[in-house]
Amino acid sequence: MNTSVITDAMNKDFVLAVEGLTVSFDGFKAVNDLSFYVDENEIRVIIGPNGAGKTTVLDLICGRTKATTGSIRFKDRELTKMKEHEIVRAGVGRKFQNPSIYEDLTVFENLEISYPKGRSVPGALTFRRDAAVKERVQEIAETIFLADQLDQRAEYLSHGQKQWLEIGMLLIQDPELLMLDEPVAGMSVSERKKTAELLNTIIKNRSVIVIEHDMKFVEDIAHKVTVLHQGKILSEGSMAKVQADPKVIEVYLGH
Ligand SMILES: Nc1ncnc2c1ncn2[C@@H]1O[C@H](COP(=O)(O)OP(=O)(O)O)[C@@H](O)[C@H]1O
Ligand SMILES: [Mg+2]
Repeated sequence: MNTSVITDAMNKDFVLAVEGLTVSFDGFKAVNDLSFYVDENEIRVIIGPNGAGKTTVLDLICGRTKATTGSIRFKDRELTKMKEHEIVRAGVGRKFQNPSIYEDLTVFENLEISYPKGRSVPGALTFRRDAAVKERVQEIAETIFLADQLDQRAEYLSHGQKQWLEIGMLLIQDPELLMLDEPVAGMSVSERKKTAELLNTIIKNRSVIVIEHDMKFVEDIAHKVTVLHQGKILSEGSMAKVQADPKVIEVYLGH
């Protein structure tokens, strides 16, 4: 038995296994020997003070930033050795803090444009594909509460609806791991509630990693919370556990 077989066996229950991950920017370790594991159908929330390294962790997973050392296993793939577009194709979707949608296109067009081009449709006839795309766009629009806005130009959507649209543009690619950086920032209370509802719906087919500061929202979605501080894990576990952790109160929740 070679070592990769042993590693596979150890990681088989995790969608994502991050081990010993470090990135050094001119000697400064923004992420420092970090290890954590995400299960299938899990919503993991990463919290922590500004500069803790949260966004950098997502940058490392999606291949935008290269790790100095350590490994990131996504199912049976080693992501640290892959390019950004290969990681997307392997099934990892990532939403940045600011929505990047096409303002001058409609909701329908924004979703349609995000439908994976290479995806085969039985029969492979153009009209069959068009029908399949249309059906999928409709399904996603319902999930993201925009079924009545399909013909609306994206620029006229509210800030919250724009965030949902971008989540929809990722969902249409059916990622097995979806990563969202501060998805409810700037949202109203009711939009935050609906976003929690949305995440609790889409988790059935995938795992989600969310970075967020809004503790009410975190409570509504988190299966498990990882608290980052200075590139390392300060605390990890249920919301109740990390909220009661004196270290977390001292560096984060107490402020
Ligand atoms: N590309 C980079 N080059 C140099 N320093 C960086 C880079 N990206 C992030 N950092 C630094 O790493 C630290 C963590 O940043 P970040 O991951 O954005 O924190 P968070 O998302 O938790 O607020 C910060 O001190 C930031 O300035
Ligand atoms: Mg950040």
